[in-house]
Amino acid sequence: MKLLPVIFLLALTSATSALDNGLMRTPPMGWMSWERFRCNIDCENDPKNCISENLFRDMADRLAEDGWKEMGYDHVMIDDCWSSMLRDKDGRLQPDPQRFPGGIAKLARYLHDRGLKLGIYGDLGTHTCGGYPGTTLDKIETDAQTFASWGVDFLKLDGCYSNEEEQQKGYPLMSKALNATGRPIGYSCSWPAYRGGLPPSVNYTLLGEICNLWRNYDDIQDSWDSVQDITDWFFDNQETLQPEAGPGRWNDPDMLIIGNFGLSVDQSRSQMALWAIMAAPLIMSNDLRTLSSEARAILQNRAAIAINQDPMGVQGRRLLQERSQIEVYWRPLSQSASALVFLSRRQDMPYRYHTSLAKFNYTAGSYEAYDVFTGKTLSGLSANTEFTVFINPSGVVMWYVYPKMHYEQPQDDGRYPYVRQKYRMSSSLRFHKPRVVPPSLL
Ligand code: GLA
Repeated sequence: MKLLPVIFLLALTSATSALDNGLMRTPPMGWMSWERFRCNIDCENDPKNCISENLFRDMADRLAEDGWKEMGYDHVMIDDCWSSMLRDKDGRLQPDPQRFPGGIAKLARYLHDRGLKLGIYGDLGTHTCGGYPGTTLDKIETDAQTFASWGVDFLKLDGCYSNEEEQQKGYPLMSKALNATGRPIGYSCSWPAYRGGLPPSVNYTLLGEICNLWRNYDDIQDSWDSVQDITDWFFDNQETLQPEAGPGRWNDPDMLIIGNFGLSVDQSRSQMALWAIMAAPLIMSNDLRTLSSEARAILQNRAAIAINQDPMGVQGRRLLQERSQIEVYWRPLSQSASALVFLSRRQDMPYRYHTSLAKFNYTAGSYEAYDVFTGKTLSGLSANTEFTVFINPSGVVMWYVYPKMHYEQPQDDGRYPYVRQKYRMSSSLRFHKPRVVPPSLL
């Protein structure tokens, strides 16, 4: 008899859950400095592009004034190289006084006044990757308190210059320390990226309990090669990674580089589409002051964002790699909808890919497909209807697929009633009664 409460307690505490700070129930969105602006601290010769409070204020203005915030891009995240080389007399981190003369608290107020949130960067270890003061185990509480006192809303905790044992202690400790501040602070852990990204070295159950998101793999660079390398790694390891994501806990394949120098328009659509399928954080690292209209249209594509932000929060999968070098990706969405991405890895010319929904295990029924990047709708699709999509080299066709009204009711246990057993993924998800979807999405 006495055991019962203990068992009950154990059951409660051992349940897998996301970090209990209530944050980031959908993947975080915003802007971060690293990929585009790196560790440029030369404000004398490059005042517009150096890591300084002006850069972050500029980006905040753009997010607030150019329609980004309304689309969900609400974080401005400071990456490495913001701090002074020395802690203050009380052992606290402090910003570089020349480049952040107003201090971080003032910058946070500037953002909050515009309905935005401020992210900051720290590193568990002796130094940050850029050589600035790191957060050693004895400094975790001080740094958490400092960030909270400045009004910071998000912390990326990198892992340069620490060993496995320090990481094992430090990442959970920081989670506790952030919670103890009483301020809701989203928490991104680079821990898995320093341990090869895969079990047994990485414990994703634990990560889901202590972090809101985590970098699993290498840094993104400004090239299509880099995007391909990252997506290949994530989808090659989808059996491991896909079940770990969910509301409040996300895999992070790194920043969106759309709007920089390395991607064509087609490749930019591909990055947006694949990040939406992966339920990845949509954190841009680009120059919002000089963005082309094509880049803006892709990043502000409503349907792509709605797919990324789907409330069910199930990460998608790669379904097929064809010999023709066409790949098919799929993500289940709420209201019985789903997203399909057809990606061409070819390097010759647009490819006519001939297929049907039944090939991706969609069950009998009547569907409509909204083409995310052309805005056209294809109706009257049944699972067996054969269709052809034209996919540009290194480009995508992305569809939002939803069942038409008056379709059969799902079976009681049917979680993804339009897709057969093979692709059912998480046992914790419940089927949502379908409604008519597209108008709210689009
Ligand atoms: C590491 C991280 C990057 C960036 C740099 C900063 O490489 O993975 O995202 O934060 O450090 O130095």
